[in-house]
Amino acid sequence: AAAKKADGWLAAMTLDEKIGQMTQVDFKAFKDLGDITRLSLGSVLCGGNSDPDDITPAGWAKAQDDCQALALKARLKIPLIFGVDAVHGHNNVDGAVIFPHNVGLGASRDPSVVEKAARVTALEMVGTGIRWAFAPCVAVARNERWGRTYESFGERPELAAELGPAAVRGLQGDSLAAADSVLACVKHFVGDGGTTNGVDQGNTECDEAALRQIHLPGYVASIKQGAGSIMASYSSWNGKKLHGHKYLVTDLLKGELGFGGFVVSDWAGVDQLSPDFKAAIDQSINAGVDMVMIPNGPGQKNNYVEFIDKLKELVNEGKVPASRIDDAVRRILLIKARMNLADHPYSDPALKAKVGSAEHREVARDCVRKTLVLLKNDRKVLPLSKSIKKLVVAGPAANDIGIQCGGWTIAWQGKAGDVIHGGTTVLAALKEALGPGVEVVHSADGSGAAGADAAVVVIGERPYAEMFGDRRGGKDLGLPADDLAALKKVREAGIPVATVVFSGRPVLLGPVLESSDAILAAWLPGTEGRGIADVLLGDYKPTAKLPHTWPRSMEQIPCNPEDGAASEALFPFGFGLSY
Ligand code: IFM
Repeated sequence: AAAKKADGWLAAMTLDEKIGQMTQVDFKAFKDLGDITRLSLGSVLCGGNSDPDDITPAGWAKAQDDCQALALKARLKIPLIFGVDAVHGHNNVDGAVIFPHNVGLGASRDPSVVEKAARVTALEMVGTGIRWAFAPCVAVARNERWGRTYESFGERPELAAELGPAAVRGLQGDSLAAADSVLACVKHFVGDGGTTNGVDQGNTECDEAALRQIHLPGYVASIKQGAGSIMASYSSWNGKKLHGHKYLVTDLLKGELGFGGFVVSDWAGVDQLSPDFKAAIDQSINAGVDMVMIPNGPGQKNNYVEFIDKLKELVNEGKVPASRIDDAVRRILLIKARMNLADHPYSDPALKAKVGSAEHREVARDCVRKTLVLLKNDRKVLPLSKSIKKLVVAGPAANDIGIQCGGWTIAWQGKAGDVIHGGTTVLAALKEALGPGVEVVHSADGSGAAGADAAVVVIGERPYAEMFGDRRGGKDLGLPADDLAALKKVREAGIPVATVVFSGRPVLLGPVLESSDAILAAWLPGTEGRGIADVLLGDYKPTAKLPHTWPRSMEQIPCNPEDGAASEALFPFGFGLSY
């Protein structure tokens, strides 16, 4: 029935309407939202910095619903599909539950954890009417210098192949046809995690056998699971950009792997193919990109009106075959038809009321517990005794939910000190769990620890996301000086110290190793600090294992067994203690 519906739409469409469906416009690019109707646009997205002004669940629902109402006014009334980077929860919505980033989920090794996180994410999204998540990222991060390492499940293809499909299952549910299904978008095809020196948007240099062995399994498994969309990578393979790579996008992905969904470009990813926008569009659409993500609007460079005009010219000049347009549009329409978007085009008030609910937070809390890797536990200082009298909780990250969540949280790059409603920091969670009988003292700089029975010091990387997180040249993976100073001060008090590290990847522990009796790698756990308190206090025994080999020094990076100095590493892949 879906195919019939898609074919019916397609048969009735003009070339303009077809190209409209291939166009995805950034929410902030519109001067006039009426363009959605006029141009029969296929999709709207909110990427990095283009959220609606009101980022409450109601504000997001209104943004989606307003756009959808306009799409449904177009001649053929084809619903649009609204996409966001819901990569660890519905993470641009204030009040939503934020889950651990993929690196932590990789440490859980548990597909059911990944699936549950993705299911709750989907429900919170459907509450706001948004039915497309640019997730999961199945990058296999091979160099910890890469700023997107935390979006990867880990350094091994097996992790991507096992956990990627679990995320697809959680987002899409049993069937795309369900009203609470969210379209997954597996990204970034392909080899984004393998670039030389871990350069974001860089060049992956390897032979085809290695590309298939390391970077492809996450796609093969996710396609088998029914993933309906895939995003092309900004990166290149042996010097050729993926956005223009016909062999990989058409022959391999759509042909050999039989991918029947549609391929979307990354944000202005097509523009990178050539300074001449028309030539770039030509290459990209002919390579097999079906929908183009366009950040710019009228008056700006390479905007969506220009895209539509130039693609039309290319078709009329015979440079892009009409059959290629029909194939792209049919793929998009088929997904829309399979999702019954026309029957459920708007936000769901009952689910909207559950965004950030206690029930959803409990799911995230359980995920957090299962992602924490115990790296050290001398003298069994963990779990902390609940009958202590006084606990110091120190470090700038102990009471900072922005650092705890990392990038892709409310703001594109994330933000230390951000106010995120509804979450629990480590400090708050420990206070709550220990109750009024234990004095819990907070000290961001580590002073005043003398006289306490024990200390929990929380340190970590400051938030970053794509383009800004690479560590090269003078930048290493050391921890911030303030954090190390706080730890040093606490150490001087001579009490047992358990250190919690927030990071998107293995970091250089340096003095942390000697200054801490116990170390818990907590990755970027999201809003539910209670899950960390559960492990610190022994209500849950650590079960997670390292998804990366953990280097001692920058010289050891890349640190996985195939590419680098893994035998000299500080901790091997798969390491993790328990109580
Ligand atoms: O989905 C993202 C992608 O991962 C990186 N570039 C921007 C896209 C949309 O925000």
